[in-house]
Amino acid sequence: MLNFTHQTMAQITKILQNSISVLQPKETIEFKILNPDAASSFYNGNIVTCNGIKYIYRGYKSWVDLAHILQCRMLTPKILDENYILMRYEKLNQDNSFHKNITDKEEKYGKDSIFGQIHKNEEASFLYSYIQALQNVHVNKRVRILNLGVNSGDEFEAIKAYAENFNDLELVGIDYCESAIIAAKEKFKNTPNISLHVADINELNSLNLGKFDLIISIGTLQSSNLEYNKLLMSIVQNQLKKEGAMILGFPNCRWIDGEMIYGARVKNYAFSEMGLLYKDVIFAKKYLQQKKFRVTITGKDYIFLTATSIRKD
Ligand SMILES: C[S@@+](CC[C@H](N)C(=O)[O-])C[C@H]1O[C@@H](n2cnc3c(N)ncnc32)[C@H](O)[C@@H]1O
Repeated sequence: MLNFTHQTMAQITKILQNSISVLQPKETIEFKILNPDAASSFYNGNIVTCNGIKYIYRGYKSWVDLAHILQCRMLTPKILDENYILMRYEKLNQDNSFHKNITDKEEKYGKDSIFGQIHKNEEASFLYSYIQALQNVHVNKRVRILNLGVNSGDEFEAIKAYAENFNDLELVGIDYCESAIIAAKEKFKNTPNISLHVADINELNSLNLGKFDLIISIGTLQSSNLEYNKLLMSIVQNQLKKEGAMILGFPNCRWIDGEMIYGARVKNYAFSEMGLLYKDVIFAKKYLQQKKFRVTITGKDYIFLTATSIRKD
């Protein structure tokens, strides 16, 4: 069994990479390490001597990160004794990802798709950043709210839980995925101030929805069927009130075999590449600043851009 004591993170990464490369998806690898609870307030890399052996200290955060970097899920470690644990990684099944699950474009994100099993509000890092974005734009003050690419309505659920005056708001969601809208309608059947429509964002101007105090769009505007720059400018000019606000969410992660793995991926790169993400975020930032909005950029697995008008805040 692998036993890591004084090896550096670079050495451990290489050893595990080699071992994992010959595993089948769902197979596990186990290795013995110093129990991270054996020390407290230690930064990674400090030396802990245990039973006369020198160990390089590392906390759980580092082991969880490494599992994801190696495309694995960290399983519950086994406690060997108070000083040692058996760390266990399970190799992810790369085929179990909606990114590979291509059906027709409208149903790629449908109720029965792999995407339909994702509940972002149960991901701490997503929820924390999204709620912070709602606070940044003073959601309680925004009456008409539009969500572009609403899917099954996770973002509205969070508003319902968070907004103090939820019943005074008027929420409109659109998505061209019919099964997702049916699921959202079922979820919100007792919430009369939420209306949901099967519609194409490309046809937004002809839907005559009026102007909104807050426009939210998460993981949608970068879709290949939409022209990001042109669409963003059109939304700001045609659907957003001058004193309104926006929340744009840009995925900086991949969903693979039950795990949310940090880092945006783009075509032709085998690793996480964030050039496109930064380009699109900065385009929105500059454009909205020109249009007299105050812009913040926050988040981690999802990058959130918030914009609030400085004409009348
Ligand atoms: C990655 S999902 C994000 C859904 C939701 N906002 C979330 O973050 O969970 C993108 C959504 O945008 C929808 N979508 C993509 N292009 C669209 C278009 N042209 N018109 C309407 N909806 C579109 C998809 O059906 C899907 O529900």
